[in-house]
Amino acid sequence: MSYADVYRRSITDPEGFWMEQAQAIDWVSAPSRALFAENAPLYEWYKDAQVNTCWNAVDRHVEAGRGEQLAIIHDSPITHSTKGITYRELRDRVASLAGALRAKGVEKGDRVIIYMPMIPEALEAMLACARLGAIHSVVFGGFAAHELAVRIDDAKPKAIIAASCGLEPGRVVHYKPLLDAAIDGAKHKPAFTVIFQREQEVAKLIEGRDVAWHTFQYGVEPAECVPVSGDHPAYVLYTSGTTGQPKGVIRPTAGHLVALNWTMTNLYKIEAGDVFWAASDVGWVVGHSYICYGPLIAGATTIVFEGKPVGTPDAGTFWRVIQNHKVKSFFTAPTALRAIKREDPSGSFIKEYNLKNLQALFLAGERADPATIEWAQQHLGVPVIDHWWQTETGWAIAGNPMGIELLPVKVGSPTVAMPGYDVQVLDEGGHPLPAGQLGAIAIKLPLPPGTLPTLWNAEERFRKSYLNTFPGYYETGDAGYIDDNGYVYIMARTDDVINVAGHRLSTGAMEEVLASHPDVGECAVIGVADELKGQLPMGFLCLNKGINRPHAEVVKECVGLVRDQIGPVAAFKLACVVDRLPKTRSGKILRATMVKIADGEAFKMPATIDDPAILEEIRTALQTLGYARS
Ligand code: COA
Ligand code: AMP
Repeated sequence: MSYADVYRRSITDPEGFWMEQAQAIDWVSAPSRALFAENAPLYEWYKDAQVNTCWNAVDRHVEAGRGEQLAIIHDSPITHSTKGITYRELRDRVASLAGALRAKGVEKGDRVIIYMPMIPEALEAMLACARLGAIHSVVFGGFAAHELAVRIDDAKPKAIIAASCGLEPGRVVHYKPLLDAAIDGAKHKPAFTVIFQREQEVAKLIEGRDVAWHTFQYGVEPAECVPVSGDHPAYVLYTSGTTGQPKGVIRPTAGHLVALNWTMTNLYKIEAGDVFWAASDVGWVVGHSYICYGPLIAGATTIVFEGKPVGTPDAGTFWRVIQNHKVKSFFTAPTALRAIKREDPSGSFIKEYNLKNLQALFLAGERADPATIEWAQQHLGVPVIDHWWQTETGWAIAGNPMGIELLPVKVGSPTVAMPGYDVQVLDEGGHPLPAGQLGAIAIKLPLPPGTLPTLWNAEERFRKSYLNTFPGYYETGDAGYIDDNGYVYIMARTDDVINVAGHRLSTGAMEEVLASHPDVGECAVIGVADELKGQLPMGFLCLNKGINRPHAEVVKECVGLVRDQIGPVAAFKLACVVDRLPKTRSGKILRATMVKIADGEAFKMPATIDDPAILEEIRTALQTLGYARS
């Protein structure tokens, strides 16, 4: 079947298409139908099924004779170690951890926060929750204690599983003090925490609250897989919205299994026994779908990589991992390739390794710039496939389905809509636009299986953020166009979300932190173009009347405040003091115009601007930071 046939069927006969895909999953009790539209515009898939994610990702492969195959390879150029875990070992470790969690009272539906670096135990913790039907929420290690506290208060976890430390090049990230500060700062207190002590740092445990990973498993009964209903949340993953309060994206169990399984074969062309590597972090959606669940559901081997594209130890690390572990499909963010290209423009490291097993490189997380794609194509000699998706969808909205057929690559486009996604470009009034015209990208409801049914504890926010603007559609928050051949082009966000090194961040959240500085009266944060990271946040601070301290001092404190409150991942290092901010007559800050000035792009003077002279002041301030050069 061609891509066109598969896609057409998914749109004209979604019920038949998705019931057929569901056959690849082991059900405790199979779904009677695929779509449940009773609560439209809130949709659910396979709701009346009974199933367990851990069974499908682990146990069933042992039963099928894959027990001795590697499930996980941990490769850490930071600790100079590599280790493999077979499916049988993984099953036993996960069953034991789940048994210990159960013995301490964790049950189906309880939330468990996981705050761990790139070690196999992070996946084991996720799978142990899945085994019990507990709902995990993984928090990225680069977030500060305050962000962790916000998530604790929203998810209200019974337990938190953390490691003693993470390892960044040249620095140990002390997780335990961050965890302690987060629990102190949160209103909700977990019943207990489980700490995995790493060799590099043994954390001090608090008696009565903290238990050690190994000791608490001692002598417990391993847990069997607990069946859950198809609509049961497999996990909640927080992502940036336009405010400081992150959105808790819910992943429904059954749709997640079916959709990820479909992508492994049809998009990434991976079968049981193959090696798949996504160089991301378990704290992001890519880590959930394609470091943990997707490859394991497919019976493949997944790689947990603790390192960076450059500097651990050099720009050849990725190629070494691909060679040594015989990676077949590789997934990373364009920013990682830009970092490599900057250090090794001629691709000399690539030539040092044998990459014969590599069939394709997949890119996502941010716009893939043509120069980076072309560089990779030229030096790797395999298809470089951009694909577009979001935390909310959990899998690609648009991509090049190489497992069905490799469509011609058009550099700058993540190719075509994936099954079940009826992608359209709309004008401001919600009317579909003709091919080639730029507009808001929306997806006609229902979204396919695996995508978010709603937000955790926030259904009204779900409707407001995604459903209300264009009735009958899901609003992606991205703008772009579709060409005559159905190729999708993603050009920009329509909201205040920025993308820094493939990490999705909220400028609104940074503004809330800056506004909490006692000397700051008003502020704005924008995303400016950056050659390496795609975008960087930049802050503009208006100080309260009568503040006569050196501006540099206030700026330094503000930079420190964002790092302390949001975390190093925000990469907030650029800020300046200005007298006023450019606004419309109704008081709206003209952020988009500020971005254009910073990036040296032409812009039209907004008709509603209150005082055009302010733009010159902004330009001067930007020039002192090395921006706004045309
Ligand atoms: N725990 C703690 N701190 C972390 C962290 C983690 N898991 N991940 C990143 N950080 C810190 C870094 O140490 C750095 O701190 P610093 O300001 O003290 O240097 C800061 O957060 C910013 O990190 P990063 O964005 O990684 O920037 P970098 O300059 O260290 O590296 C790249 C640049 C391009 C190499 C890096 O951003 C990268 O590998 N990007 C790929 C991202 C990716 O895969 N995204 C997945 C989305 S699909
Ligand atoms: P996240 O939820 O962190 O995965 O971020 C999702 C957002 O990242 C999308 O809404 C886009 O703005 C951006 N994004 C992800 N993949 C791509 C891509 N291939 N091309 C352009 N933008 C992308």
